[in-house]
Amino acid sequence: MGLPLIRPYLEVLNVNETMRNLEEGVNFAVVGATALDTDFLDPMGRYDVFTNFSLRIQVDWFKGMLSPLCNTSSDCRNVLSSSLIVMGPIGGNDYNCPLFAGESFEIVETYVPFVIEAMASAINELIQHGASTLLVPGNFPIGCIPAYLTLYEGSYESEYDPLTGCLTWLNKFSEYHNELLKTKLSQIRSLHPHVNIIYGDVYNAELQLYQSPEQFGFTENTSRACCGGGGTYNYNLSAPCGLPGASACANPAKSIN
Ligand SMILES: *[C@@H]1O[C@H](CO)[C@@H](O)[C@H](O)[C@H]1NC(C)=O
Ligand SMILES: *[C@@H]1O[C@H](CO)[C@@H](O)[C@H](O)[C@H]1NC(C)=O
Ligand SMILES: *[C@@H]1O[C@H](CO)[C@@H](O)[C@H](O)[C@H]1NC(C)=O
Ligand SMILES: *[C@@H]1O[C@H](CO)[C@@H](O)[C@H](O)[C@H]1NC(C)=O
Ligand SMILES: *[C@@H]1O[C@H](CO)[C@@H](O)[C@H](O)[C@H]1NC(C)=O
Repeated sequence: MGLPLIRPYLEVLNVNETMRNLEEGVNFAVVGATALDTDFLDPMGRYDVFTNFSLRIQVDWFKGMLSPLCNTSSDCRNVLSSSLIVMGPIGGNDYNCPLFAGESFEIVETYVPFVIEAMASAINELIQHGASTLLVPGNFPIGCIPAYLTLYEGSYESEYDPLTGCLTWLNKFSEYHNELLKTKLSQIRSLHPHVNIIYGDVYNAELQLYQSPEQFGFTENTSRACCGGGGTYNYNLSAPCGLPGASACANPAKSIN
């Protein structure tokens, strides 16, 4: 789209305020972040969450960075109303952390409405400040990724989609999250008809890659990671890509993962 790479918030924060170019946008995302606050998702500290910088904290950062522009609320609304706000993808780690910590799927399934509520609350807050165009991506087909294929390795053959090799029930879980999200977005749209809320259908876009990989240039086995520490799917939690024990394949562009 010809837009510049968007700089991360913690880097922009270190730039002299007068030198910041907020018009290029700021990236408030944090790798591993959850939609729910850590205290809420993991009160007992069982899940080994990747980071405490939840969506609520990211929204607070966003508001803090806008504050010089929000001296008069009309300035602030002008900036926000002419901006594209990319709200996510977020929420996947709220399921990844507990599932990889060994939590049961039945329990993790009950988190979905809370995750959607946390996303809705962030969206509503930004709308109150004047946001008028938001892109909200859903979750991707997590049943296709080597990490989950490894976690549930040895499942019954009937649990895998014969065409893609993905775990069907896990993809259905992404679909469930996405259905609740889409319902919530419709509710927000009807309360704020002047706001443009775009659902990002990452799920179906990515599923196409697994369904006809050659058409998109992916000639390596789609269930195996290019970079990893060995095993059936070349995914090893003890030797993640980039750390000792892992190595990369010759031509990364030919692998989806
Ligand atoms: C920011 O940069 C301007 C212009 O170079 C300078 O006058 C000002 O003192 C700097 N402010 C801080 C907080 O460093
Ligand atoms: C999250 O917060 C808790 C409590 O303040 C702290 O003990 C822990 O180290 C933090 N974890 C991360 C990954 O920041
Ligand atoms: C907003 O107010 C602060 C403090 O009163 C001031 O330093 C800043 O220059 C103002 N920003 C704008 C865009 O007017
Ligand atoms: C995973 O990585 C660890 C640490 O490098 C290694 O000891 C182990 O053999 C690996 N497991 C597999 C299945 O390759
Ligand atoms: C891809 O790799 C997986 C795991 O090794 C294997 O089960 C599957 O049969 C392979 N698929 C193809 C099309 O070779």
